[in-house]
Amino acid sequence: MSSPQDWFTHDRFGLFIHWGVYSAAARHEWVMSREQIPVEEYDTYRRHFDPDLYDPREWAAAAKAAGMRYVVLTTKHHDGFCLWDSDLTDYSVANTPYGKDLIGPYVEAFREAGLKVGFYHSLIDWHHPDFPIDGVHPRRDDEDAAEQNAGRDIARYREYLHGQVRELLTRYGTIDYLFYDFSYPDREHRGLPGKGHEDWGSQELEALTRELQPDILINDRLDLPDSDLVTPEQYQPSAPMTRNGQPVRWEACQTLNGSWGYDRDNHDYKSTELLVKMLVDGVSKDGNLLLNVGPTARGNFDPRAVASLESIGEWMHLHERSVVGAGPAAYEAPADARYTQRGDRLYLHLFSWPMRHVHLSGLAGKIGYAQLLNDASEIRFTEVDPNQAAQNTTPGGQPAGTVTLTLPIQRPDVAVPVVELFLEG
Ligand code: GLC
Repeated sequence: MSSPQDWFTHDRFGLFIHWGVYSAAARHEWVMSREQIPVEEYDTYRRHFDPDLYDPREWAAAAKAAGMRYVVLTTKHHDGFCLWDSDLTDYSVANTPYGKDLIGPYVEAFREAGLKVGFYHSLIDWHHPDFPIDGVHPRRDDEDAAEQNAGRDIARYREYLHGQVRELLTRYGTIDYLFYDFSYPDREHRGLPGKGHEDWGSQELEALTRELQPDILINDRLDLPDSDLVTPEQYQPSAPMTRNGQPVRWEACQTLNGSWGYDRDNHDYKSTELLVKMLVDGVSKDGNLLLNVGPTARGNFDPRAVASLESIGEWMHLHERSVVGAGPAAYEAPADARYTQRGDRLYLHLFSWPMRHVHLSGLAGKIGYAQLLNDASEIRFTEVDPNQAAQNTTPGGQPAGTVTLTLPIQRPDVAVPVVELFLEG
């Protein structure tokens, strides 16, 4: 059964972009909360926000070269700053030295490059005067926090939230994906009445989103039971994900260095090898990877992010068909390896380089040909007849049904080597 949302599972790999005035602070997108910065003081980042190097075509080209097929950009993060000229607030890019809409050019550039286009939108808003001061709000430790809260009306904020989503979903043509972030089940443990999904009017917001964009995908962070996908954060699930016992579409979102927003002094970058492993591991469990870049306040990707995307792109250039359009396989991979399958091809991703031989159980009689994917060089193999009891015709006396690949001594010089197995019958 095909649906307009099938592109998502097929595409497998997307770019997350966290960008806002926090990029100027350059010390994590939660800086306003972490450092408990008052609205007036935080406003200095708006007054200095001038991304003169912003060129979304460059972003799109970098994403495309990395093998990414879709993109999700923060339209508004928890600090409340809007990257478009909203009619409902002055707290937007329209009131910065830059002064121009950032969302329209973004949508256009990525669409032009052939990528699906998504929006991230924060349910939480530390700038809006009606948003409650909860346990993570920058004003949480104010002595008069309770009095401040008494005057805050969540219904007014809800109206604002829905109004802004309406703007975003009516001004820019087709939007493929909405990543809401994030809901909590209740605020009671933070000493406040109210349930998260009631605060946002989650049901109405979901209905509005679907009314304005009928084919859109909506993530799970509205805290409703029937979202289109689930989004584990900086976490690789150990098996295909399920919801109420049924398989569910999923996407892991991951950072390059632990921070979503540009974090200048954080050098804890993941290696290309690790990032490619995350992508492959996800696909082997029927999941996607949404990998994040936090552009600088000048609007470009910093050199470390560029280097990461480029080297992932080198791998993708040679191995794309083992992940795009691929999914989990019906066979159990050997230790420290992952299988993916696409039609009659089975892909063996070797997370560590074996000692000459690798044994694949249950595949005897099923493989017509095998090659390294990076250079299409033949990999020769032996088999133990599945109908025979264990014998000693292969090195090590493998059980019936085993295929033993003989690998070169030299590990191919790629982030993760892949053997492509042609299935027969
Ligand atoms: C979170 C964080 C946030 C980030 C997001 C990405 O919930 O609050 O800063 O935008 O997850 O998944």
